[in-house]
Amino acid sequence: MLSEAQPCECYDLGMTRVYMDHNATTPLAEAVADRMMTVLREEFGNPSSVHHFGQRAKAVVDEARSAVAELIGGDPSEVIFTSGGTESDNFALRGAADALEPSGRRQLISSGIEHEAVLNTLKALARRGWQTTLVPVGATGLITAEALTASLTDQTAVVSIMHANNEIGTVQPVAELTRLAKARGAVVHTDAVQTAGKIPVNVKALGVDLLSISAHKFYGPKGVGALWVRRGLRLLPFMTGGKQERGRRSGTENVAAIAGMGVAARLAMAKMAEEASRLAALRNRLEQRILQAVPGTAINGDPDTRVPNTTNISFDRVEAESLLIALDLEGVAVSTGSACSSGTLEPSHVLKAMGLPAHRTQNSIRFSLGTANTEAEVDHVAAVLPRVVDKLRSLTRTPVRG
Ligand SMILES: Cc1ncc(COP(=O)(O)O)c(C=O)c1O
Repeated sequence: MLSEAQPCECYDLGMTRVYMDHNATTPLAEAVADRMMTVLREEFGNPSSVHHFGQRAKAVVDEARSAVAELIGGDPSEVIFTSGGTESDNFALRGAADALEPSGRRQLISSGIEHEAVLNTLKALARRGWQTTLVPVGATGLITAEALTASLTDQTAVVSIMHANNEIGTVQPVAELTRLAKARGAVVHTDAVQTAGKIPVNVKALGVDLLSISAHKFYGPKGVGALWVRRGLRLLPFMTGGKQERGRRSGTENVAAIAGMGVAARLAMAKMAEEASRLAALRNRLEQRILQAVPGTAINGDPDTRVPNTTNISFDRVEAESLLIALDLEGVAVSTGSACSSGTLEPSHVLKAMGLPAHRTQNSIRFSLGTANTEAEVDHVAAVLPRVVDKLRSLTRTPVRG
């Protein structure tokens, strides 16, 4: 477990391991783990119970609700705890679509670069008769006002555009897009899983109706998240059962995980500005060094409008999966948007939606930095890469593209 600025102590067989996959998940902050252990040991009550033990547990949940609300500029009564980003996205889209069914509006709008939690939920809703439209994205992964306007109709029920993309980090102009969608009477959701805790997220400034977040992306535990629901918005629950979360999300609360999320939210607020500029400097250093040292590399995404910890780089003539494995053997943990299934390499759906050619959609690696990363680690990764890439390229014969 890592606290704010401790170096990673993950060593095996004498190898120093560098973790640069924080968009996949982050390690628990020490204070989060401590609080969770205390709650697990001492606050075993059911928050729905009226007796002393229940009310203590309820107070723990309420304190975390206030912290999460503060992180996103909402009111605690608007925060619903869920099992994570995937559930929050499902709840937002299914709950809003179900609530809007009687209105006769039948169109759901999103983008091709969303997380699978949104894309696959839209597919499921399409099978139930909803018409889905994916707004085209530009070459840097940005969704423009013009592109959204061209898709909006009087039939639009819900618009869901992610705040920042998990693969490339590009931050969307959500406030502007929301204004356009609301002018046409649509309900607006944003998946802020990759921004909450990293950059300021304010539900009022964004103007949205629904916003998803997940604790394990900002040093909280896995399996807990929240959906912020604007007060007054009609949303049908998609889990039926008890009256928890004001009847909107049934099931006894995971009190310790929720408490952990609350502490993680407070930590994120306390160090956000400082950490964001530290990570941006590290990310830029990594990027510059890689681009200088490795020919045939290019940055994917919008270089100016992205979360501070993320860079996505295509390595010409290198399969992303092979590079990921070679780097792992060197002790460097990164990730790729492309996936190897049945022996063929699937291009990243994000880079594909941006219209990038095949040699960039299958060759890209995401480096996502976090609290424990240091300048020394960045320099280590930048030093290891040229050798690893050269070796992989020597196995193929096509020349490096410019
Ligand atoms: C943008 C985005 N949305 C949703 C999710 C899903 O969140 P969870 O892992 O909490 O279900 C992720 C996780 O990678 C994500 O990056």
